Amino acid sequence: MKNLEAALHLRGETRFVDDLPEPEGTLYAAVFVSPVAHGRIRRLDTREASGRPGVRAVLTARDIPGENQIGTIQPDEPLLAETEVHFAGQPVALVVADSPGAARAAAGAVRLEIHALPAVFDPREAYEKGLLIVPPRSFVLGDVEAAWGGCDCIVEGTVESGAQEHLYLETQAALAVPGEHRSMRVVSATQSPTGVQRAIARVLGVGMHAVHVEVERLGGAFGGKEDQATPWAALAALGAVHLRRPVKLVLRRQEDMRFTGKRHPYVSDFRLGLKSSGEILAYEVTFFQNAGAAADLSPSILERSLFHATGSYFVPNLKATGISARTHLPPNTAFRGFGAPQAMLVIEGAITRAARALGIPPEVIQEKNLLREGDGFPYGMAARGCRARRCWQEAIDRYALEGRRRRVEEFNRTHALQKKGLALMPVCFGISFTNTTLNQGGALVHVYTDGSVVVSTGGVEMGQGVKTKIHAVAARVFPIEPALIRVESTSTLRVANTSPTAASTGTDLNGKAAELACRAILERLREVAGAELEARSAGQTGGGNTAPADIEIAEGRVTRKGTPTDLTWRSLVAAAYTRRVSLSAQAHYATPGIWYDRRREKGEPFAYHVYGTALSEVTVDCLRGTYEIDGVWAVHDLGPSLDLLVDRGQAEGGIVQGIGWLTLEEVLYAKDGRLMSRDLSTYKVPDLHFAPRELEVHFLDDVPNPQGVFNAKAIGEPPFMYAIGTCYALFRAMQAFRPDLELPLITPLTPERVLTSLYPERLRELEQAADSASNSAVPASGSAAPAPAAAGTATRAGCRTRGVAAAGTP
Ligand code: MTE
Ligand code: HPA
Ligand code: MOS
Repeated sequence: MKNLEAALHLRGETRFVDDLPEPEGTLYAAVFVSPVAHGRIRRLDTREASGRPGVRAVLTARDIPGENQIGTIQPDEPLLAETEVHFAGQPVALVVADSPGAARAAAGAVRLEIHALPAVFDPREAYEKGLLIVPPRSFVLGDVEAAWGGCDCIVEGTVESGAQEHLYLETQAALAVPGEHRSMRVVSATQSPTGVQRAIARVLGVGMHAVHVEVERLGGAFGGKEDQATPWAALAALGAVHLRRPVKLVLRRQEDMRFTGKRHPYVSDFRLGLKSSGEILAYEVTFFQNAGAAADLSPSILERSLFHATGSYFVPNLKATGISARTHLPPNTAFRGFGAPQAMLVIEGAITRAARALGIPPEVIQEKNLLREGDGFPYGMAARGCRARRCWQEAIDRYALEGRRRRVEEFNRTHALQKKGLALMPVCFGISFTNTTLNQGGALVHVYTDGSVVVSTGGVEMGQGVKTKIHAVAARVFPIEPALIRVESTSTLRVANTSPTAASTGTDLNGKAAELACRAILERLREVAGAELEARSAGQTGGGNTAPADIEIAEGRVTRKGTPTDLTWRSLVAAAYTRRVSLSAQAHYATPGIWYDRRREKGEPFAYHVYGTALSEVTVDCLRGTYEIDGVWAVHDLGPSLDLLVDRGQAEGGIVQGIGWLTLEEVLYAKDGRLMSRDLSTYKVPDLHFAPRELEVHFLDDVPNPQGVFNAKAIGEPPFMYAIGTCYALFRAMQAFRPDLELPLITPLTPERVLTSLYPERLRELEQAADSASNSAVPASGSAAPAPAAAGTATRAGCRTRGVAAAGTP
């Protein structure tokens, strides 16, 4: 069926936080943030702002009744800055006023004197200065040092990947409504209702039982609301507690882009050793993660990079090291794939380099090393139900790789300025939160006396269709018309201690819990049916029993030993109520069998892995650097889908979002750390015209996954990584044009970067001319005045300045 919310979205009737009817007396908040990336606060003066028309309060760190702390993994993130600021966009003061306009105008009147301090934006530089979020961490298998000697070919290099803006349609938003006895009800656009509840309790200095967080749905999240919905909800609650009035805080698009963290840019050094046959013997990789100014989820994200360092391959000797570098950017955060895409981009880059060095097609190396059943991952787990090779082969056969390869070669022979590229991308992604504790879900199911059903779980709807799937689960357990079932909002009162809806586990964890709760009620109803039928045949109420095993409830009717009875679903439910049998059930699900020992870096961290292979074909205009994506065709290991349209949407959306990360989407910061790509005119996401001309995903539906809900596999994140194949198809097309060059492995491959990579000689001339025409003045680090963000001074987050962004005049 369609996503349950599709009709609402289509008609524009869906209510997001900013669309909710406002309680009487609602006030509006705006946030004053640090204009500089790093500095000591000399003076914060809110008097002028407080006197502005319509202003009810201007609050600072001093007004926080509880603890000024919202860090989830580490307590390193104040809600409002106290003595120092650590990134441009860091909240410093909250203005609450009668209208959003009045609040924003007054925020502009907050006066802040700052002593600017030196700021670091490059993760390698931060590492050298000892600015780390957590100590470096390594995954080791075999002995790489011993293995290099046996290699016929060793390639080394660096892969750089850029940040990515989440660009959810609904910006960060919250509405806090104060209640009686110091309680607070908060509607928040968060993936983590419990996370928001916990942070608000901490900030307000109350128990979690005094804070009720409710989420109807989010207008997209993609990881950007796993941790980073929290500050805005906590600020709204802070305003509400002070003024005893409801307070709403909704970020504008530019604010959202400037204030919040993004996908982590990575700079990664690799070394790959192979036999001349293409067999991989050893791989060493160091990930420099640009974490930004606070831990946020960075250590978990880095951990997932380590888990996915070897991609879909068996590598007998590995050393993978993760470094989480503290810089002066907004804290970077979860984004679809959660560090795995960055890691997989590196090993595929290493294979691309090795293929060139060995003079063999990359597919030969890829195929030779693909995981086989029983192969060990570096973290100790074995690949079980491994479908890496099956997906690979099916993709090759189904999408006729050989014919396509011939056509591409023919095209490249006959076109001087246009080149085509092909690439296969195998994906293997572990399902479960890497933090074992988080792998639990909860559900609360009520059946009402008219037979209708309401299901609540810890799963948050963000467009991914978790409600549609939970609905499908309940509809499979309860033999009734789907219209009798409603999936309700996510509320910390109905389901407590929820994990964020993330790690693609939303349906697995909450769907299993919903299934358990529904089954518990159904079991009771079966017993009631037995008793009821017995009583009826005995001509009296109360006594008797029919074995529940003889009872079947199907299509809204009760049968006994296959014979229909006059009991319907509705009369059965009514009978249960009359007999004082509970029609409600709560259930909890915890993924069985998973564990992880961080000391040894070994364990069984994942319930299972999702496999798949995508083929990408692209055409590059090598005169202009522009390109088209001819197609992406994938074979994806899904199992029997709970909802085919939803799953197709997830796969296609994930692929296009991944392509955006690796091609058009370029997050640019000025040299002083202020975001330059801060609206849709300077940050380009893929549109319909840019999307692949052909996009096809074939699901393997004949392979049951007992660890999943009704044997299906999770799908939220894995397809994102097929886009890495599209990126390397572009590289190969570029390589076909310049076989003499070792192309830099830097993404995003914007058309500008493609062009400058293809003509490095011309770029050097331009850069030299630009250098001699100016003596680029970098602002002194002691200066309080931020440098103007001129177009030529752009720098990618934490990456060496290269390409067109650096080619202009400063
Ligand atoms: N799809 C839509 N439409 N919107 C989203 O925000 N988030 C993605 C993915 N698909 C997202 C999405 C991310 S990052 C994750 S982890 C999963 O959905 C979360 O939902 P699930 O666990 O229910 O799959
Ligand atoms: N994935 C996504 N989100 C998370 C994870 C994870 O593995 N761990 C903590 N939050
Ligand atoms: Mo998804 S990045 O785990 O919210």
